[in-house]
Amino acid sequence: MQRFAPGSVWLVGAGPGDPALLTLKAVHALGQADVVLHDALAGRAALAHARRGSEIMAVGKRKAAPSLPQARISALLVAHARAGRRVVRLKGGDPFVFGRGGEEALALAEAGIPFEIIPGLSAGTAGPALAGIPVTHRGMASAVTFLTGHDEQGGLPEGLDWAAIAHGAPTLVAFMALTTLDALAVRLIAAGRDPATPVAVISRASLPNQETLTTTLGAATLAARRASIGSPALVVIGEVVGLAATLAAGMAVPKHAAVAR
Ligand SMILES: C[S@@+](CC[C@H](N)C(=O)[O-])C[C@H]1O[C@@H](n2cnc3c(N)ncnc32)[C@H](O)[C@@H]1O
Repeated sequence: MQRFAPGSVWLVGAGPGDPALLTLKAVHALGQADVVLHDALAGRAALAHARRGSEIMAVGKRKAAPSLPQARISALLVAHARAGRRVVRLKGGDPFVFGRGGEEALALAEAGIPFEIIPGLSAGTAGPALAGIPVTHRGMASAVTFLTGHDEQGGLPEGLDWAAIAHGAPTLVAFMALTTLDALAVRLIAAGRDPATPVAVISRASLPNQETLTTTLGAATLAARRASIGSPALVVIGEVVGLAATLAAGMAVPKHAAVAR
């Protein structure tokens, strides 16, 4: 395995939460790191792979405290690397999928710090897969759009071409969209997406308490509220959701309960 040199930073994806879905390279990095800066991970079990004696720092949102500002996190990465440490920056899913990994990599490049990107399984594909939903399917969905339901102000991102999103790809996968589900559904329906389009809300994918709510675009908000779906959760919109009834039933891991409404 590649040498983890002192004075460098590895931006590591932790996958969706199940530690069995960590990559071998992520485990290798954690086992050698002098310091690990981590986000509020869906599953904290990845940290069990950190080298004994390494410094573990939570820099994402914690119960009572907000996350550190992004500039402060980048400054910490640079400072630890300049002190000659092996630094792991551990992020949920994949560091470059709605994870701000790009911003941190840019800061490291500007500071002249050597870094590596260790991709992780993104919840955007792993979550649907674990719920029995293939995001692409021959004859049904030959394109998929990944979007965030949440901008810096907490609302739907502005400046997106919603008509193009509504009609562009048969499958939409929305991250961070639980609190904006109503606004998202309204936007898509207003842009012409059929309210009868199947929707799945997949909560805590890969964790023992994973749940999937299946509903329709028109009924999604009410159904999610009634089912009190917990976070983190992904919203999958498209005909591929209809495959879950057959595929989830045939999967060998019955703990992944499906809640149909
Ligand atoms: C800041 S984004 C990080 C995404 C991450 N980089 C990835 O590639 O999966 C956090 C969002 O990812 C989604 N997410 C992450 N882990 C999840 C999980 N285990 N189950 C469902 N959704 C998850 C949720 O939409 C959550 O609000």
